[in-house]
Amino acid sequence: MTDALLTETRDETTAAWWRQAAVYQIYPRSFADANGDGLGDIPGIVSRADYLRDLGIDAVWLSPFYPSALADGGYDVADYRNVDPRLGTLEDFDEMVAALHDRGIRVVVDIVPNHSSDLHEWFQEALAAGRGSAARERYIFREGSGPDGSEPPTDWTAAFGGSAWERVDDGQWFLHSFAPEQPDLNWDHPEVREDFLKTLRFWSDRGVDGFRIDVAHMLTKDLTEPLPSTAELELLPHDGNHPLHDRDDVHEVYAEWRRVFDEYDPPRTAVAEAWVSTPERRAKYASAEGLGQAFNFDLLVADFDATQFRTIITDNLAQSQATGSSTTWVLSNHDVTRHATRYGLPQLGGRTGAKQGVEWVAAGGPEDQLDRERGLRRAHAATLLLLGLPGSTYLYQGEELGLQEVAEISAEQRQDPAFFRGAVFDGLGRDGCRVPLPWTASGPSFGFGSGEAHLPQPDWFAESAVDVEAADPSSTLSLYREALRLRRELQTDETLEWIETGRPDVLRFARPNGWQIVTNFGTEPFDLGTDAADVVLGSVSGGAVPADSTVWIAPGLIG
Ligand code: NOJ
Repeated sequence: MTDALLTETRDETTAAWWRQAAVYQIYPRSFADANGDGLGDIPGIVSRADYLRDLGIDAVWLSPFYPSALADGGYDVADYRNVDPRLGTLEDFDEMVAALHDRGIRVVVDIVPNHSSDLHEWFQEALAAGRGSAARERYIFREGSGPDGSEPPTDWTAAFGGSAWERVDDGQWFLHSFAPEQPDLNWDHPEVREDFLKTLRFWSDRGVDGFRIDVAHMLTKDLTEPLPSTAELELLPHDGNHPLHDRDDVHEVYAEWRRVFDEYDPPRTAVAEAWVSTPERRAKYASAEGLGQAFNFDLLVADFDATQFRTIITDNLAQSQATGSSTTWVLSNHDVTRHATRYGLPQLGGRTGAKQGVEWVAAGGPEDQLDRERGLRRAHAATLLLLGLPGSTYLYQGEELGLQEVAEISAEQRQDPAFFRGAVFDGLGRDGCRVPLPWTASGPSFGFGSGEAHLPQPDWFAESAVDVEAADPSSTLSLYREALRLRRELQTDETLEWIETGRPDVLRFARPNGWQIVTNFGTEPFDLGTDAADVVLGSVSGGAVPADSTVWIAPGLIG
């Protein structure tokens, strides 16, 4: 029953449903709280299933909902095959999958294979069993340096700041690429490999349609002694043999996973979160023998700028054509400043270094230079452009309400380890995009739950509450609903043709079925001539294409 409905509402080729899907990311602890404990939960998602259907998305991706001490927002997983009791039960999970499938929505879950939580039973066993034990082999334990081993084995720093090594009571050190509560697993260990196959089957058997793979480029490592210093690592090329990142041998892991995905009908899908140095390196993760798709984060770190957008779009479409995969478009997720705020900040000046850009946007930028209105206008324009592109688009919960990044969170209320430890995501950290959603303009926690939300919601959330926006045809929510509805007609062949506009700040392209998209990145309106009559959707109303806006032109009407 479920599959029939899914096929009907989506792609005729069920196995390829993901190629041009609009995927909505749910950060479960901040989506909807059914039991009033302040944390969003699985029954909360079930209670909003109709909202998701009405939004018109094809799939949801759930950030981790597994048992976790929340040292890193759930990316510290204590048990990969269970639901955090504060978020529900496995039965609740099954109910959620059924509720979403019944509404034609696929389910993608997050797999976090680089590290577990320090509360995972394997790590607890490793601590208890002591140095030299088999249990420690599943992680990366080493003796310290210095005469008495009291210095970390190397000078490596963790992504959230501080040393990448933590010392345990008996004096050994373990590697953690992220927070100390996230010990890295040893992917040379057959039990680690086996266990993840079990996890993939566990969720696939429960009806999960696909997986998002956390830091997919970091699993395998060459830790042959002597271990290199940071300075030595920096001199090494990222050519597949780097000791820590994007090693060629990680693809052996994914080839094995692909065999598991293909045991299912339709095959389970996967998308890699892989921060790698070149498009060619990214293509390996997106190969049909591997995970099948890899996130393209290029727009996350680009300015609202026609030249940058055009280059990124052209490059990524060419790349996905070459690999047979389809590209992904992303403007916001749970790790970066919401794009409605980002676009209201001064331009980054075309910085292309992904990490550099993420650092900057995560920092929130200076509030006194922020123009939120312009940010939202540009966010609408960019989103409409994205939804018109070939490939899949990932939307992050709350962007359909036009939510801005929340800056008003005191240091005591913050949760992100990146905030406390500094480094890559420096400045304010990532809590500002993880604040629980406003469902109603009034009432406790704006309808998120009956109690106080786990992160403070600002008063201005009332204006963006779902009930307010649902009743307003000119709201961001209404724009997203209309765009996602029309997108089903627009998304056929995975190609586009650029149409020259005579303006460097205006992009225009046509899809093979005749739909056209025009985005004005400039300050002067762009005149559509007689085509203005054929505009079916616009991010700003008005005859021409005003500054910072996008329009969709439907075929059939043109000419
Ligand atoms: C990437 C995730 O998106 C981020 O939220 C998390 O902190 C790190 N991986 C570590 O798991």
